[in-house]
Amino acid sequence: MRLAGKTALITGAARGIGLEFARAYIAQGAKVALADINAAALERAVAELGPQAIGVQMDVTRQDSIDAGFAGAIAKLGKLDILINNAALFSAAPIAEITRADYDRLFAVNVAGTLFCLQAAAKHMIERGQGGKIINMASQAGRRGESLVAVYCATKAAVISLTQSAGLNLIRHGINVNAIAPGVVDGEHWDGVDAFFAKYENKPLGQKKREVGDAVPFGRMGTAADLTGMAVFLATSEADYVVAQTFGVDGGNWLA
Ligand SMILES: NC(=O)c1ccc[n+]([C@@H]2O[C@H](COP(=O)([O-])OP(=O)(O)OC[C@H]3O[C@@H](n4cnc5c(N)ncnc54)[C@H](O)[C@@H]3O)[C@@H](O)[C@H]2O)c1
Repeated sequence: MRLAGKTALITGAARGIGLEFARAYIAQGAKVALADINAAALERAVAELGPQAIGVQMDVTRQDSIDAGFAGAIAKLGKLDILINNAALFSAAPIAEITRADYDRLFAVNVAGTLFCLQAAAKHMIERGQGGKIINMASQAGRRGESLVAVYCATKAAVISLTQSAGLNLIRHGINVNAIAPGVVDGEHWDGVDAFFAKYENKPLGQKKREVGDAVPFGRMGTAADLTGMAVFLATSEADYVVAQTFGVDGGNWLA
């Protein structure tokens, strides 16, 4: 059990990659607070995971919700050792069709949400004086522009940058900040991505998903389970000397 006695809060954990991270952390002995805006999905997830999981309804775009969510989770868990900043939104549009409302929505969740949840965790970890681990979910999309995905790509580039600055600032407190950059990961999120491409590239539903999967050097799309090894490693003391890095876990996709 590599995370025995540890506690974690994972944002956006009611489904997808965040939920799989929660399963993996609990399997390694941690107690996990699942934080999500979707109350119904959160309830299902917590019921599935059992007594090592607690649910925290949180909107990462609202400071009062972040403050109350972290305070509640810390009170129930007793302390917080690990944060995974995983909640995010995706959208796609040609440059000429991007709306300011969509830009604001994505930056509020993906960038401000990441920064102010990171800050909430860091304040607790600094006060407690025993360090901690913070893992941000970036993306291959943060390492390159994509013709139809300007806003999401920019948010994930910002996550990589925040990981560098926060990593450098917080390591003096024994807090490691690092990021994971997945490639294309199958799940409900990608069903939404596929629908955007169906609209803008005039493809039948499901075709884009097949194309991107076939193009991955590993030979298929990723699964949430493909990412858990890195998420567990970065939360352990084996990663104590790993600072401000973003790790691609993408079957070779970005490099290709
Ligand atoms: N799936 C992929 O192909 C892929 C690739 C690269 C990076 N990522 C990143 O991995 C992370 C997880 O992706 P996923 O595929 O599991 O996404 P997902 O859409 O399945 O899950 C995101 C979760 O975030 C929650 N959420 C949305 N807005 C929120 C808010 N304001 N406050 C709190 N919670 C909120 C949603 O309710 C949902 O449960 C994201 O950061 C995503 O950008 C995913």
